[in-house]
Amino acid sequence: MARKKIALIGAGNIGGTLAHLAAKKELGDIVLFDVVEGIPQGKALDLSQCAPIEGFDAKITGTNDYADIAGADVIIVTAGVARKPGMSRDDLLGINLKVMKAVGEGIKANAPDAFVICITNPLDAMVWALREFSGLPHNKVVGMAGVLDSARFSHFIADEFQVSVKDVSTFVLGGHGDTMVPVVQYSTVAGIPVPDLVKMGRSTQERIDAIVKRTRGGGGEIVGLLKTGSAFYAPATSGIAMAEAYLGDQKRVLPCAAWVDGQYGVDGLYVGVPVVIGAGGVEEIIEISLDDEAKGNLQVSVDAVKELLVACKGIDNSLA
Ligand code: APR
Repeated sequence: MARKKIALIGAGNIGGTLAHLAAKKELGDIVLFDVVEGIPQGKALDLSQCAPIEGFDAKITGTNDYADIAGADVIIVTAGVARKPGMSRDDLLGINLKVMKAVGEGIKANAPDAFVICITNPLDAMVWALREFSGLPHNKVVGMAGVLDSARFSHFIADEFQVSVKDVSTFVLGGHGDTMVPVVQYSTVAGIPVPDLVKMGRSTQERIDAIVKRTRGGGGEIVGLLKTGSAFYAPATSGIAMAEAYLGDQKRVLPCAAWVDGQYGVDGLYVGVPVVIGAGGVEEIIEISLDDEAKGNLQVSVDAVKELLVACKGIDNSLA
C-alpha cells in the first residue's frame, strides 16, 4: 500500500514542527509548501537528514508549486502571518484572508479529496474562509483550536492540583479568541469534576477563575514572551493529533472549530465544539447540555465569530 501523503501549507514555525512530528510518527510522505522560495526546500532537506538518526521512513520534499500537493490525504494550513506583540488575532484578518484565498484555490485545484485542518489565525474566520474558497464539503474542513486551548487548560489544572496531566481532562468551547469558553463543569481530574474538587477544598473558585482567564489568554501570554512570533510546539502537536484521528479512523472526541448548523442554537457557523473525527472527517458534532453561564459565554463567543465574518465579507465581496 502506498504511503499516505501529508501536505503542509506554510513552512514557518508551525509548518516545520508539523513536518518533524509527522515524519517521526511516519504518518506518510510529507510535502512542505510555502510562497517563499528556498524555505520549504531547506527545511525539507534538513528534516530529511534527521531520518538516519531518528530512523523514520518518510519522504519529505519542499515546494513552491501547488501541483505538488496533488493527491494529499491530509492538508494542514499554517500559511499566513503570525501574531506580533500587541497585535490581536483579529488584526491579522485582512492579511490572512488573502492568504486563505490563494490556499483555498490551490487545494480546490489540486487536492479536493483531502481532509483539511486550518491553524491560521484568526482561526474561526480563517477556517470558514478556507472552506468557502476551497469549496470542499464542510465535514472535510476543520479548524485546530480546541485541542490546543484544552491542552493549555489541562496543563494549568494539572499544575494547580499537583497531579499528572494524564489524569486531567478539560473542555473548551467557542471561538479561538479571548471569548473562548473553558467549561469548568466538564473538566475533571481522574473523573472528578473541578467544581467538586473546589468543594473538597483542593483549590478555590478564585484560583480556578484565574486559570480560566489564563487559558483564554494562553496564546497572548506566549506571544508576549517570545516577542518575535507565536506559539508553535503545542499548536503543531494539536494539529497532528487531529490528523492522526482522521488517518487512523480513531473516532476521537476532540474540541475543534467545526461547521455547526443547528446544534447549540447556532445556525451555520464555524465555532469550537466537541466533534468525532474519523475516516469520514468530522463525523459528528456532540451537543452537550450546558449550564446558563456556559450558554451565555458561548453566545458571546458566537457573536464575536459572527462579527469577524462580517468583517471578512466587507474585505472580500466574493464571500458576501
Ligand atoms: N501561501 C503559503 N505560505 C504562505 C503564504 C501563502 N500565501 N503567505 C505566507 N506564507 C508562509 C510564510 O512564508 C511563513 O513561512 O506562512 C508561514 C508562516 O510561518 P510563521 O510566520 O513562522 O508562522 P507560524 O508560527 O507557523 O504560525 C502560522 O498559525 O497559529 C497561527 O497565528 C498563527 O496565523 C499564524 C499561523
